[in-house]
Amino acid sequence: MGDIAVEKSFFYHLRSLLPVEISVPQGLMKNVLVSVGYFRFRTRLAAKGAEVPDLDLYRPLYVPWEGQPEFKQYYDLIRPHTLVSPDRCWILLRFLQHARQLPGDFAEFGVFRGGTALLASHVLRQADDRRALHLFDSFAGMPQTSPGEAFEKGDFSATSEATVRSLVAPTGANVVFHPGYIPDTFADAGINRLAYAHVDVDLYQSVLDCVEYVYPKLVPGGILIFDDYGFPCCSRAREAVDQAFSSRQEKPIYLPTGQAFVMKLA
Ligand SMILES: C[S@@+](CC[C@H](N)C(=O)[O-])C[C@H]1O[C@@H](n2cnc3c(N)ncnc32)[C@H](O)[C@@H]1O
Repeated sequence: MGDIAVEKSFFYHLRSLLPVEISVPQGLMKNVLVSVGYFRFRTRLAAKGAEVPDLDLYRPLYVPWEGQPEFKQYYDLIRPHTLVSPDRCWILLRFLQHARQLPGDFAEFGVFRGGTALLASHVLRQADDRRALHLFDSFAGMPQTSPGEAFEKGDFSATSEATVRSLVAPTGANVVFHPGYIPDTFADAGINRLAYAHVDVDLYQSVLDCVEYVYPKLVPGGILIFDDYGFPCCSRAREAVDQAFSSRQEKPIYLPTGQAFVMKLA
């Protein structure tokens, strides 16, 4: 136990000495291959003469989040305000569009500076859809965390409700703010049905509380998507998802983006 505490403290403090966004040059080789036309050539060969629309977005598989015009139009607007990578935002966009066909409100749990909330606002506004988008966050950072978590109380405090309000207001979407700590803010939220819930809260207890709140309200076909499932800093969030669904009929589907989702069965 002592060793774990020392180890956590070592990595936690080491990370605080480094820049917040450490970019690993894992895409470097891919970028070089793109710029020399390797993937274009490879795609033509692999297609064996068949027509391939969006040829430049095969690297080697189709990667629409790297330039598909509809997505780019949304992502360029949210990029400065989100921690969520383009591939994950692409998944969110598709689930938002899916959920628009269903009855029920949309909700996000874990908003921080509002980037992924802005994506949902734009999708609703673009479709002239007046359903509510509910935003849950303390807007003052993490609550008390549990043992084994890579975060501390107060992390993500560099935001405010006013900042996010002014970000989403120009979209004209019907955004409802629920500032404060989850689950306290659930009591008076007044939500009956949900078609889309994005849970991006990183912590074991916060994830569990969100599932208990969202699941009964999710309409058949509704989407519950977890941002943090596959990230090493959020292994306790994964534990919470697995625990919450161990006794439910839906099985969380893990994506190579790090996200996991559940589509509510009837
Ligand atoms: C990773 S950030 C969200 C990132 C955001 N979706 C984006 O687009 O960048 C996680 C957020 O969850 C919030 N959070 C975690 N647990 C919470 C709780 N129990 N109550 C309120 N907010 C919580 C934190 O305050 C933080 O703003």
